[in-house]
Amino acid sequence: MKKYDSSKTINNNDLSTIIEAGRLAPCSLGLEVTNVVTITNKELKTKFVEEVISGSNQEKVQDANCIMIVAGVNPEHLVSTEFLTKRLERNIIQPDVLKITIDKYQTFLTQKENLFAFVSEQAHIVTSFITLQAADLKIGSTIMGGFNVKKCNDLLSQHCFFDQTKLHSVLVLALGYYDETDEKRRLPRVRIGFNEFAKIIK
Ligand SMILES: Cc1cc2nc3c(=O)[nH]c(=O)nc-3n(C[C@H](O)[C@H](O)[C@H](O)COP(=O)(O)O)c2cc1C
Repeated sequence: MKKYDSSKTINNNDLSTIIEAGRLAPCSLGLEVTNVVTITNKELKTKFVEEVISGSNQEKVQDANCIMIVAGVNPEHLVSTEFLTKRLERNIIQPDVLKITIDKYQTFLTQKENLFAFVSEQAHIVTSFITLQAADLKIGSTIMGGFNVKKCNDLLSQHCFFDQTKLHSVLVLALGYYDETDEKRRLPRVRIGFNEFAKIIK
C-alpha cells in the first residue's frame, strides 16, 4: 500500500536521529543484543532488494531511500563470556563480582527456552523505536520479516564487518518519504477498532 518517492533523500541528521532512537531503545537485562546496518548506497541497495527481498516486497521498497537491517546476536555468542563481559563490565568494576554476575547470567540465559526468540523480541522493540522516530520526522517505513536471511547475512558479510558467527539478520526495514501523489497513499489504514483493541479499566 505504500509507495516511496525515489527523488527524496533522508538527510544525514535525520538518519542519525532515527538510528539513535534504536540505540536508545529499552532492552532486557541491559544486554543490548541488536545492531543496525543501514544501506544508503544506491547500487548496493538495488542489489539487496533484488537478491534478499522476496517477490511482492521488492516492489514496495525499491524506491525507498535506504534499507536497514536489524541484526541480533546469535544465542551461542549471547551466552559467551566474551559478550557478557563486554556488556556487564560497563557497570561492574570488581573482577570477582563481574565473574559471579556473568555466571548468573549464563545460568539464567541457558535456561531460557528459546534464545533466538529472546533476541528477536529485542530487535522488534528497536525496530519500533526506529520506525516511530522516523514517523515523527515525517519519514515513512516498511517493516519486513519476509526476506532471505541467509542471503542477507552473506551480503552483509561481504560489505561490512558482519560476523555471521556472532550475528544474524532479524528484520529488514525500508525508509523514505512517501510518494504523496500516489492514490493508494490516501487509503485509510485497515485496523481493528479502538474498543476491540483496547479496554480501559477505570
Ligand atoms: C514484524 C513485522 C513483519 C512484517 N513483514 C512484512 C513483510 O514481509 N511484507 C510486508 O509487506 N509487510 C510486512 N509487515 C507489515 C508492514 O510493515 C506494514 O505494517 C504494512 O505494509 C501495512 O502498512 P501500515 O502499517 O502503514 O498500515 C510486517 C510488519 C511487522 C510488524
